[in-house]
Amino acid sequence: MRSPIVVVNFKTYPEVCGARGLEIARKIDEAMRETKGSAVIAPQQTDLALIAREAKVPVFAQHLDNAVQGSTTGYVTPEGVKAAGCVGTLLNHSEHRIRGDELELIVERCRKAGLKTIVCSNTVAVCKACTHFAPDFIAIEPPELIGGDLSVTSADPKIVESAVEAVKGIDPKVKVLCGAGVKTGTDVKKAIELGADGVLLASGIVKAKDPKAVMIEMLRAL
Ligand code: G3P
Repeated sequence: MRSPIVVVNFKTYPEVCGARGLEIARKIDEAMRETKGSAVIAPQQTDLALIAREAKVPVFAQHLDNAVQGSTTGYVTPEGVKAAGCVGTLLNHSEHRIRGDELELIVERCRKAGLKTIVCSNTVAVCKACTHFAPDFIAIEPPELIGGDLSVTSADPKIVESAVEAVKGIDPKVKVLCGAGVKTGTDVKKAIELGADGVLLASGIVKAKDPKAVMIEMLRAL
């Protein structure tokens, strides 16, 4: 996984459920091949094994549980998604928060399982706290901009710069992504100019008329 990078979270959008998720993953494969740009996708949990097997783009889970392996039911564990062919996971997304003490344990368990981690956070203070867990990436996403048309890079460039400064000041090895409202190559370029190592987005690709064209534009902007 090279950075700068574009990370696409499929969330639970119906546009990318099941076979349609695989279809869009293949379009992202093509965009990566044509641009040589780096990307990761986080498909719906139910599609992880299928997409990890059939697509070339590295696959992340959207969330994991710190449930013990064995007599627990209905949880998704780091070891389970690793066995399904995933290379990493998002954690603590604004739409699926994890308690701080639990988050630290899951990051550590993922490290042991050989999974990369992207820890999402809504404020610079949370970014700082999570950097101490030494995840691979921290993603700063102001919740009020998620799913909207205004990119965090224009609406709140300061929060991106401050997150980069705060995280790198604690541990320069931890990479920083920014997300919320990212829709165009220009937004991606701005993220890089603000010091980010890439972007985390969803609707800009999932709901695009031509996801491959938008992905190419974003990868070229890295
Ligand atoms: O995980 C990415 C996300 O929360 C941002 O969503 O739709 O604003 O790109 P979106």
